[in-house]
Amino acid sequence: MDTKGFHLFSLILLSLLCFSTSFIPTNNFLLNCGSNANASFYNRIFLADSAKPGSLSLSAEGSVSLTDPNPSPSSPVLYHTARVFTKDSTYKFNIKKNGTGTHLVRLHFSPFQAQNFKLASAKFNVLANGFLLLSAFTANGMVLKEYILNIDGEFLEIMFSPLEGSGFAFVNAIEVFSAPKDFIIDDGARLIDGNGIEDYKNLTTHVLETVHRINVGGLKLTPFNDSLWRTWIPDDGFLVFQPAAKRAVTTHVPNYQSGGATREIAPDNVYMTAQEMNRDNSSLNNRFNITWDFPVGFHGAPYLVRLHFCDIVSPALNQLYFNVYINDYSAYRDLDLSMLTVHVLSSPVYIDFVAYSDASGVIRISVGPSDLSNPSRINAILNGAEIMRLVDVKVSQTGSKKKNIWMLVGFIVGGFVIFCLAAVAVVLAYKCKKKKPKPPRRVESAGWTPLRVYGGSSYSRMSEGTVATSPGPNGYHSLKIPFVDIQAATNNFDRSLIIGMGGFGMVYKAVLKDNTKVAVKRGVPGSRQGLPEFQTEITVLSKIRHRHLVSLVGYCEEQSEMILVYEYMEKGPLKNHLYGSKHPPLSWKQRLEICIGSARGLHYLHTGSAQGIIHRDIKSTNILLDENYVAKVADFGLSRSGPCLDETHVSTGVKGSFGYLDPEYFRRQQLTDKSDVYSFGVVLFEVLCARPAVDPLLTREQVNLAEWAMQWQKKGLLAKIIDPHLVGQIKPSCLKKYGETAEKCLAEYGVDRPTMGDVLWNLEYALQLQESGPEAPQEGSNINGMDCPTSSITPSSNARTEKDDGSGSADLTTSQVFSQLMTNEGR
Ligand SMILES: *[C@@H]1O[C@H](CO)[C@@H](O)[C@H](O)[C@H]1NC(C)=O
Ligand SMILES: *[C@@H]1O[C@H](CO)[C@@H](O)[C@H](O)[C@H]1NC(C)=O
Ligand SMILES: *[C@@H]1O[C@H](CO)[C@@H](O)[C@H](O)[C@H]1NC(C)=O
Ligand SMILES: *[C@@H]1O[C@H](CO)[C@@H](O)[C@H](O)[C@H]1NC(C)=O
Ligand SMILES: *[C@@H]1O[C@H](CO)[C@@H](O)[C@H](O)[C@H]1NC(C)=O
Ligand SMILES: *[C@@H]1O[C@H](CO)[C@@H](O)[C@H](O)[C@H]1NC(C)=O
Repeated sequence: MDTKGFHLFSLILLSLLCFSTSFIPTNNFLLNCGSNANASFYNRIFLADSAKPGSLSLSAEGSVSLTDPNPSPSSPVLYHTARVFTKDSTYKFNIKKNGTGTHLVRLHFSPFQAQNFKLASAKFNVLANGFLLLSAFTANGMVLKEYILNIDGEFLEIMFSPLEGSGFAFVNAIEVFSAPKDFIIDDGARLIDGNGIEDYKNLTTHVLETVHRINVGGLKLTPFNDSLWRTWIPDDGFLVFQPAAKRAVTTHVPNYQSGGATREIAPDNVYMTAQEMNRDNSSLNNRFNITWDFPVGFHGAPYLVRLHFCDIVSPALNQLYFNVYINDYSAYRDLDLSMLTVHVLSSPVYIDFVAYSDASGVIRISVGPSDLSNPSRINAILNGAEIMRLVDVKVSQTGSKKKNIWMLVGFIVGGFVIFCLAAVAVVLAYKCKKKKPKPPRRVESAGWTPLRVYGGSSYSRMSEGTVATSPGPNGYHSLKIPFVDIQAATNNFDRSLIIGMGGFGMVYKAVLKDNTKVAVKRGVPGSRQGLPEFQTEITVLSKIRHRHLVSLVGYCEEQSEMILVYEYMEKGPLKNHLYGSKHPPLSWKQRLEICIGSARGLHYLHTGSAQGIIHRDIKSTNILLDENYVAKVADFGLSRSGPCLDETHVSTGVKGSFGYLDPEYFRRQQLTDKSDVYSFGVVLFEVLCARPAVDPLLTREQVNLAEWAMQWQKKGLLAKIIDPHLVGQIKPSCLKKYGETAEKCLAEYGVDRPTMGDVLWNLEYALQLQESGPEAPQEGSNINGMDCPTSSITPSSNARTEKDDGSGSADLTTSQVFSQLMTNEGR
């Protein structure tokens, strides 16, 4: 074999290898219609339908096999033949018993003229198991229609139904094959319709029709490049404002992670390219969206919008925060891709949304920077987009019925033909209606995946066996853990495994079957006390996933048990690292990072995708630390949605912890997210001073930390009361910023307090001040906050110049720069 031959050989071997690892559908029907011969199309063999291969049956009385007499040499052989139907005709595919579920169906139309048939003038309907796929369809050129539908019976019946006028229907080729498991899941999509964000239910009861499939920032991908033989096209033609976008490309193969996307969801090439914000163009400011408009044909119709992301632009994790909008509605705020799977960069994920096309029949998708972005890292990306119409039988049917009635009224004179048409439509409608009551959906296949799109890493760590799928108390699913599994994990609630105890009950350290370490919180068995807290916690935590919020791994409600299972937090509550235990003291930087982390978690609770959740019980025992001292907010038992308490709860009294309680909430019994800000302010002082929020053993003026620390802060003498371990560690400018931030949090009235977003921002700023160039750390109590030296920071570069003239002019510089920063950030 010569070298050329050898290369060819290895190439073939390689492609064979590639193919052998790719997806193999359980059901796979490829038909070359109207032909006696097999045809190869993108390396797949389409079998002659006249041979009725495999488990196909064709009831096509009066069908004609047609061959193009003058085929264009450039057109695929598959398109040189067609089957023509002069009466209603049905292909019936036998579905394997173990192969029910989601399928892809593709219909190929490539009209030509032969004998008495000019295929381009055919007009017909196509139905699949009663769903009207195509209505009064005419192929004016080569058309490929793709549908995704769920088959739960033994058959798929595709019916071609010629309409009066043309009197015939046709098709060149048909593909029907099983989709990968969980390709489309029932409750995994978010409904974006301007009325807040909720799950779109029962997605698989619809047939989906692919309208757009876009490789954003990349090249056209053909069925050769895709394990499901899909075609992806570039996005350029859809960009509303080209200069806003810049292509990003990587040569690294994506890091597929469980819980994220797979190669079948979209091929490597989709995730290896993206559009990002074009910040090179100096004529654009720092804050803008990249927007695509996708014409979809129908107005006000529902579409599944599947967006693909893979962070190929950031040098490290947790640096890219951006917002996603669909039709100008917020669809995903502060999206941090590194949160959606195990924490690995370049890990592909996809998110499903359901949205309605606007009045001009367009779906608009935008991505833009989040308020959480670091000013030097403002960016937003999109790697791929798919838009699929939700085909709803009922809607199509009533639609066509109405239309026909109007026609009947309008053309009553020449009406016989039209009457027949209407009759056909009514009969069709009746037929489909009869098929409408679908059997209840099976849920076993769902597993933990319905929540996959929200991505929590804890889900991916769960063993399949620990998760069942019955709905939780508020319709939430997939988190139930059998009691026996919890018994096993806790060694039957071994007392030596108790790591804590609270109002709710005992907390045990446990290990699940898959070796995941978890914390198991068990309510007093048989007592229904704490039931509302239990349910709140499940509802809240099953909806949200965030790096700085403790994840709920599951729960158990069997045998009058109330058990919550969380990710295990190695280092326990923040409080234990501040005072009253033998842990080594945390450094100032560690403390700042912990505060920033918890602020980020709280900010997400208040404004993130779950939106408007108030924690109500922020304190240092509810901030937990993992093995790397990453802070996570825990204990959502008291949390509430919405800006106000509903009346019934106001009367049951104020809840929260003494010493952290917002005085305004106490007085007016009106709960807002600013109550959390107040409690967080107390935590900030607790972290700085390393003492409890309330210490009854101290002198009267010292008992309450908030009051006491505020006195010192107002006098500008905060440095005098800091944790002795921190003396000499904190830069004055940093302490000043930190003190001011805590002070603002403790403002008497909620309206005067900053939002958690502002708090987060200010703490990050404080950390920057601490980390920036040389500045003498404060020396014990010599420094007072009022005239301490400050630094000026140039936000755009990392170059930082220090000023220390002690006259206050440096102060001015800082605040000017700072306010500019704020403006840039749009705050
Ligand atoms: C088409 O392919 C099938 C399966 O590979 C084979 O059994 C059949 O003989 C082929 N038909 C023709 C006409 O070549
Ligand atoms: C379905 O059953 C067939 C045999 O009837 C078997 O060959 C195939 O592997 C099964 N497929 C799956 C996905 O279990
Ligand atoms: C897609 O596949 C074709 C044929 O194998 C190949 O030539 C092309 O380079 C592939 N495109 C990409 C983007 O990988
Ligand atoms: C920069 O943006 C302006 C519009 O603001 C546009 O006209 C121009 O073509 C862009 N330049 C580049 C290099 O993209
Ligand atoms: C991005 O688009 C959304 C929706 O239209 C809009 O609310 C937001 O202000 C835009 N952001 C920027 C930075 O222009
Ligand atoms: C979803 O399907 C279930 C079971 O078929 C049904 O009870 C429920 O009402 C459906 N929900 C919606 C929103 O259609």
